[in-house]
Amino acid sequence: MYTSTGGFIMPKKDIKIAPSILSADFTILGKEIKSVSKADYLHFDVMDGMFVNNISVGLPVLDSVRKITKMTLDVHLMIESPLRYVTKFAEHGADIITFHVEAESYGNTMKAIKEIHEAGKKAGLSIKPGSPPEAVLPFIEKLDLVLVMTVEPGFGGQRFLTESLAKISQLRYIIDSKGLNCEIEVDGGINIETAKLCVEAGANVLVAGEDIFKAPDRAAKIAELRDL
Ligand code: DX5
Ligand code: ZN
Repeated sequence: MYTSTGGFIMPKKDIKIAPSILSADFTILGKEIKSVSKADYLHFDVMDGMFVNNISVGLPVLDSVRKITKMTLDVHLMIESPLRYVTKFAEHGADIITFHVEAESYGNTMKAIKEIHEAGKKAGLSIKPGSPPEAVLPFIEKLDLVLVMTVEPGFGGQRFLTESLAKISQLRYIIDSKGLNCEIEVDGGINIETAKLCVEAGANVLVAGEDIFKAPDRAAKIAELRDL
């Protein structure tokens, strides 16, 4: 939907909220997940200490999470050579599998998207702050989601990078002009203020770690983010 001045307004029903469990208390992960169960997706960050300078969680934790929730598991792979692992993450319960365009060759990226779809899952491709939106263009027709990193990947609680907004608008324009059904997700430094800017630029899936898990009332925070 476009305004008379050319700005983009995402229809409210299309906005999805994805709490990132990186900011949860892992000693009580089941309880933490329950506290955000009103959200649309559950964002699950996988870091290998190579693609990013941090190590988080992997398949055994995904198994445990899958057992205790029916939420859509939105797995964000921040790992080198993700083709090695996409089918494994599908088998272990991921619903959406997103990996980084910077982490694979053209051929392997195509193969990984195909493997994710053959496993019956949704495929996403992510770009780091330094990568142009054009990086995902060769794959865009095949994708269910594009994830625009709005901080340098690796850690929660960082400050939103305003430069990302132009990329989101460009991607929204490309996706809409091609008539594609591809979501635009943003991840990093999302709060009420930055979420609004991202939605105005054309994003429809909002990942939030600290802003949701540090909120006194998480359900209210999720509703607030959805109803910007
Ligand atoms: C960062 C991760 C994010 C992180 C976001 O590399 O991909 O999902 O958890 O955390 P906040 O919302 O706190 O910036
Ligand atoms: Zn993430």
